[in-house]
Amino acid sequence: MKKRHALDGGRDAELESGSDAHYKDAAYYAATYADRSEDIDFYVGLAAEHGEGGVLEYGCGAGRILLPLARIGLTCTGVDRSAPMLAALRRELKAQPELASRVTVKRGDMRRVRLDRRFPLVLCTFNTFLHLYTRQDVEQFLARVRAHLQRGGLFVLDTSVPNPEELDRDPSKLTRVTPFRHPSTDEVVRYGERFDYDPMRQVLLVSMEFEPKGAPERAWMTPLAHRQFFPRELEALLHYNGFEVTDVFGDFEMRPPDADTVDLALLCRARRGFSG
Ligand SMILES: C[S@@+](CC[C@H](N)C(=O)[O-])C[C@H]1O[C@@H](n2cnc3c(N)ncnc32)[C@H](O)[C@@H]1O
Repeated sequence: MKKRHALDGGRDAELESGSDAHYKDAAYYAATYADRSEDIDFYVGLAAEHGEGGVLEYGCGAGRILLPLARIGLTCTGVDRSAPMLAALRRELKAQPELASRVTVKRGDMRRVRLDRRFPLVLCTFNTFLHLYTRQDVEQFLARVRAHLQRGGLFVLDTSVPNPEELDRDPSKLTRVTPFRHPSTDEVVRYGERFDYDPMRQVLLVSMEFEPKGAPERAWMTPLAHRQFFPRELEALLHYNGFEVTDVFGDFEMRPPDADTVDLALLCRARRGFSG
């Protein structure tokens, strides 16, 4: 049997739950990211220019970005594997039938889903790419993107940039924020986060810890696992999987990246001469 080493480790249970647990409570997710709107404006602008003929979004979740794209008249397809997030999206579509006719939702794994059509614009939004933990995950996913991209089409992804301060945090230390009312349980909860970086897998494991005030016995923890792609590594993976990065932005206002960049947005085209 082939001997495994740290660099060829696959996806284990820890990574599977770290790509799933945070998306089980769609109401909490929606409340947590309610103020995040810059990326929506960015994608709406790009889609208005490049999305005529259809937009495919990988990791569409409950439609935080997909629904605004449909609202400007585009036909949209969303792929996600989280049943609770897609249930929330379907509820929204039921409440807004004028959008429902333009939106197709497909539940499945972005490394495998096959749609029998191609799109002028394919998106992988808000760190969804960070749920691809291994080289094989990335290869499978980018092969699907190539198969779903029209000739001359645009593939856009955004990912957070590894933050040395977060990677260096002591996992035994809980960083607490002010207690808040949990949108799903309607209870006041104490909340804190632990960061535990595995430098061999290049995975940041975030433990989100919730404790209902006065009821520590009902405390729970939600894990989130984010692969850390350093910018040059990301560019190399895209290159060797058939993409040319045509533009890189250091924020959603399309400013160039610099040493303080938090989120990278990459615009890519299929690379000429690539036969994958
Ligand atoms: C950070 S959320 C982004 C959701 C939405 N695009 C937004 O901006 O709010 C990441 C999404 O990726 C989905 N996801 C994670 N791994 C996946 C996979 N292997 N295949 C399909 N979807 C996946 C999760 O279910 C989740 O909805």
